[in-house]
Amino acid sequence: MLIVDRVDKSYRKGGFFSRERQQVLKNISFHYEQGECLGIIGESGCGKSTLGRLLLGIEKPESGSILLKGKKAGGNRAGSGSISAVFQDYTSSINPYFTVEQAIMESLGIGRDRSSRRDNHAKVDRLLKHVGLDPHCRTKYPHELSGGQIQRVCIARAVATEAPCILLDEAISSLDSSVQMQVLELLKRLKEIDKLGYIFITHDIQAAAFICDRIMIMRNGQIEEIVSTTQLMDVQSPYAKKMLQMVIS
Ligand SMILES: Nc1ncnc2c1ncn2[C@@H]1O[C@H](COP(=O)(O)OP(=O)(O)OP(=O)(O)O)[C@@H](O)[C@H]1O
Ligand SMILES: [Mg+2]
Repeated sequence: MLIVDRVDKSYRKGGFFSRERQQVLKNISFHYEQGECLGIIGESGCGKSTLGRLLLGIEKPESGSILLKGKKAGGNRAGSGSISAVFQDYTSSINPYFTVEQAIMESLGIGRDRSSRRDNHAKVDRLLKHVGLDPHCRTKYPHELSGGQIQRVCIARAVATEAPCILLDEAISSLDSSVQMQVLELLKRLKEIDKLGYIFITHDIQAAAFICDRIMIMRNGQIEEIVSTTQLMDVQSPYAKKMLQMVIS
């Protein structure tokens, strides 16, 4: 479904007039199948979020290509043809002047032009229940919700767009551990029920091992290794082995 082929990305180092560039992604190639959960792990600064932005089409690769269902990533309107995202900083991911209902409605508008408002109203109710939120939350503003509840709203919004895949960049990192577990359980449930696929960028190797089908280990802007979660013991590279130590020992 998603084919990433020999992607490179660099940024200008220093000021605007500086000629020196920092190579952030080097020769990244991988396939992603619909419905799978692919984890991306690696040390801080290795290029995970940059790769995420390229997959979302927010930024363009310098060379190489990213094809989502045969089309260039970001070439589609937001909605059913592209990847939805949930980020770490939930405090700024929802417009503070929007109620939960308005925030979700905004996503429902995308890609479903013909739906009537009343239909959308019922859909918001269903979505809230689907992500484990009480429908009474619909009238609340973000500051009236907990971090875990806001992340659930963000997930509901991503689900509402009917995107074939949701990219989560450190989406559970700011939540406390019991809430992290609840959100992971929710993602797992949605994956089973809705056949929803994720690209799960995280520092948390245990969380990745819990929810992902495959894990990509990145190092200095390159793919070190991609390993199936059921075969973590067979990981080849010593670096990947070290990274995964916590979950394979
Ligand atoms: N817009 C930008 N302009 C210049 N340099 C950038 C830009 N975005 C990222 N970088 C650099 O690219 C490198 C990779 O950053 P990136 O945010 O992708 O890392 P990461 O793996 O997501 O790290 P973390 O785990 O800390 O979130 C870093 O050295 C960063 O400083
Ligand atoms: Mg990052």
